Order: sequence, then structure tokens, then C-alpha cells
Amino acid sequence: MNGIKIRGTGRGLPGRLVTNRDLENIVDTSDDWIVSRTGIRTRRYCAPGETLSGLAASAARRALEDAGVSPAEIGACIVATLSADTLVPAAACLLQRELDLPPDIPCFDLNAACTGFLFALHTMECLLNASPRKFGLVVGAENLSRLINWEDRGTCILFGDGAGAAVVECREGWPSISAVTGCHGNDALLRVPGAGTGERSLISMEGTRVFKFAVEAVPWCMDQVLKKSGRTAAEVDFFVFHQANARIIDLAVRKYRIPPEKYYKNIAEYGNTSAASIPLVLSELREQGRIGPGSRVLAVGFGGGLTWGGCLIEFA
Ligand code: UT7
Repeated sequence: MNGIKIRGTGRGLPGRLVTNRDLENIVDTSDDWIVSRTGIRTRRYCAPGETLSGLAASAARRALEDAGVSPAEIGACIVATLSADTLVPAAACLLQRELDLPPDIPCFDLNAACTGFLFALHTMECLLNASPRKFGLVVGAENLSRLINWEDRGTCILFGDGAGAAVVECREGWPSISAVTGCHGNDALLRVPGAGTGERSLISMEGTRVFKFAVEAVPWCMDQVLKKSGRTAAEVDFFVFHQANARIIDLAVRKYRIPPEKYYKNIAEYGNTSAASIPLVLSELREQGRIGPGSRVLAVGFGGGLTWGGCLIEFA
């Protein structure tokens, strides 16, 4: 199988900035608690009129521009999300129309919660191997602010909205991204009920138990990806983690003795944006010139499902 590389990235962020102090006026919490337990200082919410599809389109347009790829060259489009504006049509179908992507390509949404973007990269690698077009559009986008349960102070302070996108390219002879993906069917620890359950469609989470799962899943994924790719940690230029809690990242970094210049946290600014968090990091790092052509990035995600995943992706 031929591998994929990232050629361009972009992001789309909503306009409403919400600080921890703002949340102190809504729920019984404090800036101190939120910062010390999570690392989050602010998050962004969609303002009236802003939609997930709009954020996804901004991120995708920037990624196409960054990659120097035209919409007509795209062979598949996947939006990783758990919070699309509509269940049908999928956000990816609206993106097809908005960006004028070719009509004869697969465009669909993928829900693997916070691991969605990595599941989508893995899926895209498979799809592009079977496509005559060599570029793919992978977006992670969330509008979680509308799923927040304001009666639960343990979760309402965590989440934010946003979108990140990557244009990937598939070429003969390129190494596979060595994706590792998995799930434990678990509907108790992290849940957003859908229509038909009779429950309100709001996020609920047993935070401490998910934290324990994450702390084990992250190093496990890193080990598996390195093993599958035949690379060592020293050969990785940058480590990108799902931004769920700064403490989870700190534990992984300590375990692997990753130096500060090789990892990044933007959770303070955006909170947990689920499927958008990894592509948001990639887009910021690329803009800052910290990753670019030739960089080898190990990305790890985990979340509801419970799902986990990792991959080693290079930049073209
Ligand atoms: O992205 C998908 C994957 N998600 C994750 O990986 C999230 C993993 N979990 C976490 O990040 C953490 O478990 C949380 C940040 C969600 C919670 O942190 P914690 O250290 O596990 O706190 P806790 O739920 O055990 O609560 C500790 C205390 C409790 O008070 P008592 O019972 O000790 O008196 C809570 O009631 O903190 C209290 N608490 C709060 N206090 C102020 C819970 N939420 C808040 C709050 N403000 N917002």
C-alpha cells in the first residue's frame, strides 16, 4: 500500500471567546480549579450564525491554499465529527458543495469522538490507494458548545468549538502512516445520546475513569505506532497529542522524556475540541514553521467509544 503525507493544513475558529472567569458566573467553579486540573484558560464557542459547516469550510479552504491543491484534484473528503449541524446531509457533503469538490468522490462524516481525525487519516490512506486522484481532504470539526450540560460542572468547563483540516497526498513508494486504531465498546464513561434514546443530547463523562484510560492508552499507542513503523522515538520530529487535559500530555511527555521543543499544547487557548484538536495543533505548528516538509510527526488520540489511535505522518 502507498502511504500518504500531509501537504497543507488550515483551521477555522469561531468568534466567541469564553474565559474561565466567564464560566465562574454560570457554574460553581473557579479559574484556579480549571487551570490546575485541566490547563484550560479559554475556549471558543460558535456565536449565533456560526456553524460547524462554516468552520470546516474555512479550515479546508486554508488547507487547500496552503497545499497549493485545487478542489478538482481532491479524491475523497472526510469530516471527523460528533457534532455535525445535520445528521443528513453529512458535513462532508455540505463541504463538497461549498468548495465545489468533484461530485464523483466519497464524501462522508466519521464519528470516532476525539480519535476521529486519526481514524479519518487512516481511512483516507486506504481510499486514496483506490482513487485515480491523489489528494484527499481530512477535516476534524466540532460544535460542542451546543452539547454542553450546564448542570455538570465536571464537564461543562472542558469543551470548545473549532475545526482543523489537512490536505493529504498519496504517492507510490511513500511509507504508510502505520496507523493503529482500536475501541472498547463502552457507553457508560463518555456519552452523547442521539435521537431515539429519549435522553437529552448532552455530553456526560466519568472524567476520572476516562483520565485513567487515557493515561494508559497514550503510551500504548505510541509504542504500537513506533513498532509498526520500525522507527524509534528519537527519529520522531514532533509529538502531537489530543488536547483533552494538559496533565495527560505531561504524563506522556515525562514517560517518554520528550524535550519541550518536540511537543505542543494549545489546550489553554481552545479547551478540548475533540476531533478538531489534533488538526488544530498541526495547523498552528505548521504556521509557526515548527513542522514542515520532511517533518515526521507521531500523533496520538483517545476518547469516547472508548476509542484510541495513533499514526506516524510525514509532511510533503
Ligand atoms: O477528550 C475525550 C477524553 N476526555 C478526557 O480525557 C478527560 C479525562 N478526564 C479529565 O480530564 C479529568 O478527570 C477532569 C478534568 C474531567 C476532572 O478532573 P479530576 O481531577 O478527575 O476531578 P474529579 O472529577 O475527581 O473532581 C475532583 C473534585 C470534586 O470535588 P470533591 O468531591 O473532591 O469535593 C469535584 O466535585 O473537584 C470537583 N470539581 C470541580 N470543582 C470546581 C469537579 N469539577 C469542578 C469544577 N470546578 N469545574
